[in-house]
Amino acid sequence: MARHIDILKSPDAAIKEACAVLAQGFPIGMPTETVYGLAADATNPVAITHIYETKGRPRFNPLICHMADLAMAEQHAEFDPISRRLAEAFWPGPLTIIVPLKPDSNIHSLATAGLDTVGIRVPKGFAGNLIQAFGRPLAAPSANTSGQISATSAAHVDEDLGEKIELILDAGASAVGVESTIVKVEDGKLRLLRPGGLAASEIERVAGQRLLRSGKASAAIEAPGMLASHYAPGAAVRLAATAVEPDEALILFGAAEIKGANRAKTVLNLSPRGDLAEAAANLFDYMKKADASGAETIAFSPIPNEGLGEAINDRLSRAAAPRE
Ligand code: TXA
Ligand code: MG
Repeated sequence: MARHIDILKSPDAAIKEACAVLAQGFPIGMPTETVYGLAADATNPVAITHIYETKGRPRFNPLICHMADLAMAEQHAEFDPISRRLAEAFWPGPLTIIVPLKPDSNIHSLATAGLDTVGIRVPKGFAGNLIQAFGRPLAAPSANTSGQISATSAAHVDEDLGEKIELILDAGASAVGVESTIVKVEDGKLRLLRPGGLAASEIERVAGQRLLRSGKASAAIEAPGMLASHYAPGAAVRLAATAVEPDEALILFGAAEIKGANRAKTVLNLSPRGDLAEAAANLFDYMKKADASGAETIAFSPIPNEGLGEAINDRLSRAAAPRE
């Protein structure tokens, strides 16, 4: 079992203990506003190897490097004017920007999977303070076994990885609930690599241009692990349900009318008032609860594809994708 430290009750101890484990080259469960991360020193190859092994993650899939602020980010990467503008507008927050790595950056190539770019994010709140105290960037994928549902609470991290890691910092439920939005500037154009906790429309407003969406599921190295089956619960997933069978769990959004809902194995509503931010915050926890009901299939009522709905529908289509 991993040790837990409540960051609200003992913020100083949390930072001190976390820095000690990180300095020894081991990963910790770290709360961020999006999801819990499995964080380790991005400059230490042994520490990064621990991340890949703990998650069972393919090593060709690069990790996001978390920084304390834009100044720290600029020590490691080149920011073009659009990327800098986005960083200034949205950091700290749920936005990851892919930028060229500086040749003298000491971020280890295992973290970037050998690419000449790096995904950078400045997380809001406690994680930012921790990075400031540690003084080096932290590589952190979501704190879950590769391919499974991301962790949005310390309890989720513990259930999945508690036997494999030493320390989990507990900040309660993640406020945003889905991973960061990932963008990259290419030839002055902005591309959306992963919809996430910052709505695409917000980014478009600040950048003054539309986001290019690759549209195809095979963006190769740009987004490995963001394809095919991911976020997969044990149960099968069925989308846009208009009726539900008695052996299915049902996850609703808003005031949807679903035939057979009174007979379903369990019924959960992501947001009865139809608020997409609330739905995103509940998504992974409710998927885990529906899975735990023993249902063979989890049926979802339709979710609008605007705002954070784009990230929710992205995660759901991966959860529903054929498994290998
Ligand atoms: O909200 C989040 O982003 C969370 C929290 C912990 O910060 N982290 C997260 O990390 O979701 P992860 O590793 O599960 O997802 C990172 C994604 C991967 O799909 C990876 O392929 C992509 O970012 N990525 C990382 N570096 C990249 C790069 N240089 N070029 C293209 N994609 C990159
Ligand atoms: Mg993940």
